[in-house]
Amino acid sequence: MRLNIAVLPGDGIGPEVTNQAIKALKAIAMEFDHTFTFTYAPVGAIAIDQTGNPLPEETLDVCETTDAILFGAIGDPKYDNDPSAKVRPEQGLLRLRKSLGLYANIRPVKAYDTLIDKSPLKKHIIKGTDISIYRELTGGIYFGKKHLSDDGNVASDLCEYSREEIERIAHLAFKAAQSRKHKVTLVDKANVLESSRLWRKVVTEVATNYKDVELDFLFVDNAAMQMILNPKQFDVILTENMFGDIISDEASVIGGSIGLLASASVGDKYAMFEPIHGSFPQAKGKGIANPIASILSAAMLLDHFNLHTEANLIRIAVEKSLKLHITTQDINTKHDNVTTEKVGDFIEDYILHPNDSNLNFTNIHLGQSTII
Ligand code: IPM
Ligand code: MN
Repeated sequence: MRLNIAVLPGDGIGPEVTNQAIKALKAIAMEFDHTFTFTYAPVGAIAIDQTGNPLPEETLDVCETTDAILFGAIGDPKYDNDPSAKVRPEQGLLRLRKSLGLYANIRPVKAYDTLIDKSPLKKHIIKGTDISIYRELTGGIYFGKKHLSDDGNVASDLCEYSREEIERIAHLAFKAAQSRKHKVTLVDKANVLESSRLWRKVVTEVATNYKDVELDFLFVDNAAMQMILNPKQFDVILTENMFGDIISDEASVIGGSIGLLASASVGDKYAMFEPIHGSFPQAKGKGIANPIASILSAAMLLDHFNLHTEANLIRIAVEKSLKLHITTQDINTKHDNVTTEKVGDFIEDYILHPNDSNLNFTNIHLGQSTII
């Protein structure tokens, strides 16, 4: 298969983790005889520095003319500490999602057996957790009308949803549940918010088309508690934009590190693949950022094009790296010298030589050799 992939590394640790995902994709292309080409384009703070715009027109053009987008991370502290900044890196990502119509953000959350002790949560609570979060991505409070009074003392953000916006992601969530454990939990705040009541009404109607899927409702405050009390009760979680943002960061604790969580943002025409973590500016260039979320996002990209064998090989390579403790510090208590690059090297090697029993695993993390 030929795939043209736009690469938007972005800010902070974005470029270094994205590099590892590209190494994995190149290894897959080589192993399975595919042709993947990569076109780089700036977004975020780095794009503001270069052009004054967090999403330059040329970047959007690249995204619109390629088959898929691999996204790194966005954000820079120099903007976080300046509430008056009119141009912000995050606008680049939000505009990208909106312009490309990427309305569904799919975030898989699972507890890896090999990392079960890394989570601060108790083993018996998280073991076996397997959740797919369907977060609405182009509506709600993120995109509603914003207002700041002239004197700067009153501000508001409107949370607005239309039936159509709810229906389209609801259908995706129910379809996903049909090939999983047949359960959708709608997370909302219908006891307080009008927009949430619309979500309940529309999702209940959509559910009538999926008789084999059970629909359940949870208020978001309760859902936040249930997520750490009993995460195994969830199969597919369907929710609006901001609740999904918050609940997915919380859910990442189950896996042991936010550095493991990948995501796919899809619409009717385009698809983008991005780790859920931020730009982690304190770690930039230090080689300590976990590249797994980015590498697993690349696996989701392959799944999107029905390259499931290829995607699974990436996942097997990732699991192998976890098992052998070839992992960055956030999840490694055995070795403190495994860099972002080394994790990427191992995964690349494993993809290229999955059956090679001569892989010298113990030396790999010492950096002495990869293959003997
Ligand atoms: C995410 C991020 C973004 C969001 C930020 C960077 C705008 O936190 O993808 O979860 O809030 O959607
Ligand atoms: Mn977030």
